[in-house]
Amino acid sequence: MIKRLWAKLGLSSSPTAASLSTDNIPVHVAIIMDGNGRWARKRGLPRVAGHHSGMKTVKRITIAADRLGIKYLTMYAFSTENWKRPKAEVEFLMKLPQQFIEIELDELIANNVQVRMMGSRDNLPPHTLSALEEAITKTAGNTGLILNFALNYGSRMEMVNAIRDMASDVKTGVLSIDDIDEEAMSSRLLSSGLPDPDLLIRTSGELRLSNFMLWQLAYSELWFTDVYWPEFSEKHFYEAIGQYQRRARRYGGL
Ligand code: IPE
Ligand code: IPE
Ligand code: MG
Repeated sequence: MIKRLWAKLGLSSSPTAASLSTDNIPVHVAIIMDGNGRWARKRGLPRVAGHHSGMKTVKRITIAADRLGIKYLTMYAFSTENWKRPKAEVEFLMKLPQQFIEIELDELIANNVQVRMMGSRDNLPPHTLSALEEAITKTAGNTGLILNFALNYGSRMEMVNAIRDMASDVKTGVLSIDDIDEEAMSSRLLSSGLPDPDLLIRTSGELRLSNFMLWQLAYSELWFTDVYWPEFSEKHFYEAIGQYQRRARRYGGL
């Protein structure tokens, strides 16, 4: 494939899709969508206005990712720790999947996108769960971009459950202790079947993982921006991908 001049020269961002090299597109991009509340506060709006606006960014970035040929896009939408927030905010957040799916499902289907969910179904309100199940079922046969929502997701909870599952399999004789390896662990995580993320993006200036994919991000490239999620645009996304393309991934080798 022909690489654009700027990429050959290793120049910093030219943030358009056309400026990206087509032969080094990350397979799996994971995003910690953060800063909705601060975005709203900056405008004198209630925090939930930021969540509402952030939903539009989800759509924009899903389309951009699909156009680039990214195969998996995981979006951190609600953590197992986010239940600590005020009840009204949690209730609002739990209504968003339903709203998103009502507005966007037809277009997701038209674009061959497959929706998945990664998280605990326990404690999710029935209306949240049924909206997600509808989207998952109606897009199950789609073969394009996999849009994976991390909802009621926590990496420690996920790993504890995987370890408990292995212990139980050892006890019943399904698994021998010698068979406990990285593959045995990975296949018991909620991300089972997905490759590890190549690139992690976090918006809003926070430099932490907040209990997100701790196992899976072992060798992912990390990219942070101060931009709040509602104002995160295609341009920022291409900038992240462009930087990813200029990095050398060594995995401990030379
Ligand atoms: C991200 O934005 C959305 C969720 C965590 C659900 P925040 O709501 O965390 O916004 P800030 O970080 O408080 O600005
Ligand atoms: C991480 O953001 C969770 C999601 C984006 C869903 P938080 O806003 O909850 O993270 P902390 O509390 O700043 O670490
Ligand atoms: Mg936050």
